[in-house]
Amino acid sequence: MAVEDIARTIWWDDEQRRVMLIDQSRLPLVGDLLVCSTADGVCTAITGMAVRGAPALGVAAALAIALWAANESDEITGTDEFMAELDAVAAKITATRPTAVNLFWGAERMRALARANANLPLPELRESLVAEAVSMESEDEERNRAIGRFGAELLPDEPSVLTHCNAGSLATVFYGTALGVIFAAQEAGKKPQVWVDETRPVLQGARLTAWELRMAGIPFHLITDNMAASVMRSGWVDAVIVGADRIAANGDVANKIGTYGLAVLCHEHGIPFYVAAPTSTVDLTLESGEGIVIEERDPREVLGVTFSGVFEPRSPEEARAWDLLTQEGSYAVPFTKGHAMEIARKGAAYQVDGWVRVAPPGVEVYNPAFDVTPAKYVTAIITERGVARPDYMGSLADMCAGSGAIDEIGA
Ligand code: MRU
Repeated sequence: MAVEDIARTIWWDDEQRRVMLIDQSRLPLVGDLLVCSTADGVCTAITGMAVRGAPALGVAAALAIALWAANESDEITGTDEFMAELDAVAAKITATRPTAVNLFWGAERMRALARANANLPLPELRESLVAEAVSMESEDEERNRAIGRFGAELLPDEPSVLTHCNAGSLATVFYGTALGVIFAAQEAGKKPQVWVDETRPVLQGARLTAWELRMAGIPFHLITDNMAASVMRSGWVDAVIVGADRIAANGDVANKIGTYGLAVLCHEHGIPFYVAAPTSTVDLTLESGEGIVIEERDPREVLGVTFSGVFEPRSPEEARAWDLLTQEGSYAVPFTKGHAMEIARKGAAYQVDGWVRVAPPGVEVYNPAFDVTPAKYVTAIITERGVARPDYMGSLADMCAGSGAIDEIGA
């Protein structure tokens, strides 16, 4: 068991000219590999949360454009038309989720490259876009490892760290940001242990962070989100480290809903609150977090719990019965009210996707996916270029100078 055993999240398959990604929507018990041959396929993977986490979304955006260039733009013969179509594809990709600026950054970097290479013959321009997206994959890992090294230095020898959501390897191409700091601390000979917030409602902590930490052999306790205050008060937390989806120029941080509460708790208990994120997460076009668009998601995430699983029939009779029920596609179990469950064939097995209603029908829901933590609660922002401290207006701008961070486009 080691960090290196964690599978990469998303990658370009050069032989088949396609993008491969791990479907995170059903992890940890079902871990399918998805194959995308079109930009639309990647968009569907993003909206369905098969790929998620800000840095991974940035690379996914670039790879989606690479797919379009490699597989879907053959009929275009003129550069002007190519550039106009590329802009339209980029707009479609950035419309999938509004909060993580990395998505915009990934698309913008590809558009900028296309503009710079507009004088090339189209076949070469297409290839340059593929090469750019592929290089963003490896850059992502390098950045995360650098964040990890800078962050690990901030921790004591036997740190007890609380984290929220999944800012691990799965949220990036590889290695992670907040979890990257913990992985790097372990690699540096420290002995970290982790408190993992389950992270309602989508449970990225319970499903993904717990899965990664177990793979990496790092000891941890899973807690429900409402246990964090009590754990801190008990004196069991040396630092909170989270990732970010967008950081404004003044250091306000948008991250998974619940992050703000943790930052306030840290303030109360004198615990450092660290944000680990690449400079591609910094949005210098926004003076403060007020301008950050917060995604609101399906009420069903709050009203109930989803589950997935795979089963194999125990006898030929059982197989025949399930085959009969699924012969025309997926079979919806006819609950009289409340829950939902679909069963579909999956090779010789069957895939189950269900949703268990917890709240009564007719309940109004508010389901923001992210919140904004004011900069005054952020002890430091750990980037691949070093550690930024308040006043962030100056330190973040210095850190991002020449990094290619977004400073010309907004959401
Ligand atoms: O909705 P998600 O799962 O995409 O949200 C992810 C987060 O909030 C992460 O903490 C953030 O993207 C940082 S990932 C390094």
